[in-house]
Amino acid sequence: MTADGEAILEVRDLVKHYPLTRGVLFRKQVGAVRAVDGVSFDLRRGETLGVVGESGCGKSTVARLLVHLERPTAGRIRYKGEDVTRLSGRALKAVRRNIQMVFQDPYTSLNPRMTVGDIVGEPFEIHPEAAPKGSRRQRVRELLDVVGLNPEHVNRYPHQFSGGQRQRIGIARGLALRPEVIVADEPVSALDVSVQAQVINLMEKLQDAFELSYVFIAHDLSVVRHISDRVAVMYLGRFAEAGTDAEIYEHPTHPYTQALLSAVPVPDPAARERRERILLAGDIPSPADPPSGCRFRTRCWKAQEKCALEVPPLEVPERFRAAGGPAAHVSACHFAEERPVVPVAGPGGTGGG
Ligand SMILES: Nc1ncnc2c1ncn2[C@@H]1O[C@H](COP(=O)(O)OP(=O)(O)O)[C@@H](O)[C@H]1O
Ligand code: SF4
Ligand SMILES: [Mg+2]
Repeated sequence: MTADGEAILEVRDLVKHYPLTRGVLFRKQVGAVRAVDGVSFDLRRGETLGVVGESGCGKSTVARLLVHLERPTAGRIRYKGEDVTRLSGRALKAVRRNIQMVFQDPYTSLNPRMTVGDIVGEPFEIHPEAAPKGSRRQRVRELLDVVGLNPEHVNRYPHQFSGGQRQRIGIARGLALRPEVIVADEPVSALDVSVQAQVINLMEKLQDAFELSYVFIAHDLSVVRHISDRVAVMYLGRFAEAGTDAEIYEHPTHPYTQALLSAVPVPDPAARERRERILLAGDIPSPADPPSGCRFRTRCWKAQEKCALEVPPLEVPERFRAAGGPAAHVSACHFAEERPVVPVAGPGGTGGG
């Protein structure tokens, strides 16, 4: 579907630190929560980049930075070649219109006192140039239809809809300004599994219809597989490994990815028998005090002295570089090696749609 189109977003060394303060009268900064600590990637036109990692690893912070709800501490975000981290005022507003967010929780992200029509049409209040006033009602009805809701229900309130329908409302609102990029922050995590598939299918359909590029965030590798062209695995503010879906799911080389994959549900019982379970020791360390060297080392079964001393760069590990093949993708591990965890089965490949 995508191959190597131009990059619509270029993210370089993105950093977001939240100051940790102490004291009531004299607030003093005593440290920082390093929520995002050096993230780089390209998002190509028309593709879906899946971003996966455990709770607290910085996914939502990346999302808020991408849609300019927050400013980075350091680093760059280029949109169509233009550095948008330096923009303000009208120029920033124009860019924000093209990069929209779909939020995780369809229960709390919709104002319960607003009608569905007002919720979906709200972006036109902020960007009146996007639709003349007289046409907005009609545009809202069209948007409801596009996401599979009954346009007649425009005057209903969020509580009159199911979880899946509410997420469709959130998606309709995200589409209102005809953006080019949608950052979806765990858009299906709060939904039942059966409903998850419907919402993901809808998002794929909309991607083709409106030529959208997606950053699709999830905490579970199984959720993003179906929709992603490429996947990045995040740990404690950084990317641990990134590649095409076949590279990540069938040829993972980073221990953290391998551990995450070993926890993915396998529907086929025979395959489940053969699958290895890798149980990680301990909890995620605090992002206010991340381990030296490799951030994953406190939970890694392969950790050696070098791991505490040197930060492993996110690049193609040397041992795979010459040979090429699916193991030759970026992986931030000093001792990267292939370890297929999930038995290869099913359609795999480069995604459908
Ligand atoms: N506004 C904030 N102020 C201070 N710390 C924050 C703020 N937002 C997020 N954090 C911290 O940054 C880390 C990453 O959070 P987040 O991006 O929400 O992770 P995820 O979405 O992967 O669960 C967490 O430790 C979280 O507590
Ligand atoms: S660099 Fe060391 S600690 Fe980090 S993932 Fe690789 S082996 Fe484990
Ligand atoms: Mg989050």
